[in-house]
Amino acid sequence: MSGFSADWLTLREPYDLRARNPTVLDNVAALLEPFSSVRIVDLACGTGSTLRALSPLLPARQNWKLIDNDLGLLARATATPLAKQVTVTAVPLDLNRDLEAALDGPVDLVATSALLDLVSQTWLDRLAVEIATRAIPLYAALSYDGRIALTPSDPQDTAIAAAVNAHQRTDKGFGPALGPAAAGYAIARFEALGYSVVQGESDWMLGPNDHDMQSEVLTGWAGAAHDIGAMSLADTTAWLARRRDAVAAGSSSLRVGHVDFFAIPSGTR
Ligand SMILES: C[S@@+](CC[C@H](N)C(=O)[O-])C[C@H]1O[C@@H](n2cnc3c(N)ncnc32)[C@H](O)[C@@H]1O
Repeated sequence: MSGFSADWLTLREPYDLRARNPTVLDNVAALLEPFSSVRIVDLACGTGSTLRALSPLLPARQNWKLIDNDLGLLARATATPLAKQVTVTAVPLDLNRDLEAALDGPVDLVATSALLDLVSQTWLDRLAVEIATRAIPLYAALSYDGRIALTPSDPQDTAIAAAVNAHQRTDKGFGPALGPAAAGYAIARFEALGYSVVQGESDWMLGPNDHDMQSEVLTGWAGAAHDIGAMSLADTTAWLARRRDAVAAGSSSLRVGHVDFFAIPSGTR
């Protein structure tokens, strides 16, 4: 068990799919278009959201290596209905310990989503060096970048957002997490290693009808604010109650900032 429930990953998948930056996706598809077959490693695949988002955009013959340390999520990912020439192999690995093993063998693309904000600077440095040594392109989607916009506004929103962003930097199993700084740091790191990078926003846009997703996100934020000890339980609970009332009344919208990028080794554009 990783602490990421299949229910949560299933709830967020359509919002992730809508948010994925189309320019970044176009660049991934264009680079791989000439390949007669592609070998993709999906780091921290969860239930297979990246497989489902990317597979229809790639050449027909695909071999995916799906990596996660949660066997239940891996089992769901491999149950994804696939086109005839797409094969998947599930590889249970702890990416903090066994990153190098995950990248073993011939690989045309490393893909990941909603992972980089969980990892430490040390681990991201290691990822960048391991990928650059092999001259593999990296598609990294949906890294949370710290931007939160709530409608209607509430006097406690700023304090909650600050607490959420502080919580994002706590250890998620890879050392102190980069949290909102992850995508910016990763992009700079790959550019320093000679990669060119295409990047773009991939924000969640949650409207008044997205009750379940809004409730889940707001509850998670209240929990994070409480866990980090930045706000009193009374203030956090009162904020959540006001926000839930707005969700129930159909007057609440959220925008949650994310960044996608595609890092391309020099000589492959
Ligand atoms: C936020 S979820 C993202 C899942 C999927 N990529 C998606 O976009 O829906 C983070 C994923 O990282 C996995 N994970 C967390 N720590 C890990 C580790 N040390 N090794 C391998 N996977 C890990 C979790 O099991 C989970 O599937």
